[in-house]
Amino acid sequence: MDFHYEDIVPWGRSFDEYLGMFNLSEDDLARDIVDVGGGPASFNALMHQRGTPIVSVDPIYRYSESELRQRIQDTYDDVIAQAHQNRDKFVWTHISSVDELAEIRMQAMEAFCRDFENGKQHGRYIDASLPNLPFPDGRFDLVLSAHLLFFYSANRDLAFHLNAIRELLRIGTEVRIFPIVDVNSNPSPFLSPAIDALEKDGIACSALL
Ligand SMILES: C[S@@+](CC[C@H](N)C(=O)[O-])C[C@H]1O[C@@H](n2cnc3c(N)ncnc32)[C@H](O)[C@@H]1O
Repeated sequence: MDFHYEDIVPWGRSFDEYLGMFNLSEDDLARDIVDVGGGPASFNALMHQRGTPIVSVDPIYRYSESELRQRIQDTYDDVIAQAHQNRDKFVWTHISSVDELAEIRMQAMEAFCRDFENGKQHGRYIDASLPNLPFPDGRFDLVLSAHLLFFYSANRDLAFHLNAIRELLRIGTEVRIFPIVDVNSNPSPFLSPAIDALEKDGIACSALL
């Protein structure tokens, strides 16, 4: 049985998972970073605690903390049930079981929830959506986006992906997207067409597996 989502779900990874997903070095962490589609991940909260605040962008940031807690709870049962059914699609090296995965995710999302209202007041969480972001050209050094583009290839078309990636490139110097496979770990049908189109624009792309 495959993973199937009617639409993109709010689900968040931990700070350590962000370091691994984006291969972030200490030098990277000192850069001016935006996380697009940041959702309920704890990366922003932990970066704030480290004294190097970043900006996260997501349409779910229009909601209150209590509404977001409810949405996370509503998502939990479905995501974890599908993770049990698809446990063979995960690489169980850093995390050993679906139960441990659930615990790590819920800890990360709890850290996000506790940080959210304060961070929103200070402009660290911004309610906005790809492909139109409210930032001037070149505003950030490093643009991150995880578990949105390519991952939800069944829910968004090639035109959305291209417009979204061009918008990420407009607001920053370097863009890192993770993963480049879909929710079922299959190659995204949009990866090659997107790279071809961007290289025609003169953008240097590298797809690391
Ligand atoms: C699965 S979550 C990933 C959260 C986080 N990046 C992570 O990897 O843990 C995907 C997020 O993308 C957000 N999203 C959906 N459509 C979006 C859009 N057009 N622009 C920006 N974010 C969007 C959703 O609200 C959701 O919070």
